[in-house]
Amino acid sequence: MALREIVTVPHPTLRRSARKVTDFGPDLQTLIDDMVETMRAAPGVGLAAPQIDVSLRVIVVEFGDEEDEEAPAKLYSVVNPEIARPARELVVGTEGCLSIPGLIGDVERSQSVVVRGQNRHGQPFKIKANGWLARIFQHEVDHLNGVLFTDKALQVWQLEAEDNPPAMAD
Ligand code: NI
Repeated sequence: MALREIVTVPHPTLRRSARKVTDFGPDLQTLIDDMVETMRAAPGVGLAAPQIDVSLRVIVVEFGDEEDEEAPAKLYSVVNPEIARPARELVVGTEGCLSIPGLIGDVERSQSVVVRGQNRHGQPFKIKANGWLARIFQHEVDHLNGVLFTDKALQVWQLEAEDNPPAMAD
């Protein structure tokens, strides 16, 4: 495994629509392992492949159960993810992004979603996500479509040194 460099705005890969994955061979396995290592080192709760300058539809997310603080964070790797059944109920939360250092913003997201995709071996699966986990998946899938949280934010502001870091950065 290796740490990859996280690219930041205005890197052009962040604005491209990423390609669908069709090859589940060793290169994909290495990519996913490297993304997990890079996300943890950042640290962040999620990472999309375009953030390490790889224009492929791959995301990793690691987040605990907000209803059970004792539970360990759960790791998800999703290939070709799609957001399905977004709840009509929208919730506002404060987001940051490893590719947009120093900025945070309030973004409206669906309160719950179903994420459909494939695991690292190509098998289809789905995840039901609520609350912050749903928010993280929506933020990551946006990255695969060249969309950044600053495009959707109700307001964006500079993170000051004395501020608490945002609840999420990915
Ligand atoms: Ni991000």
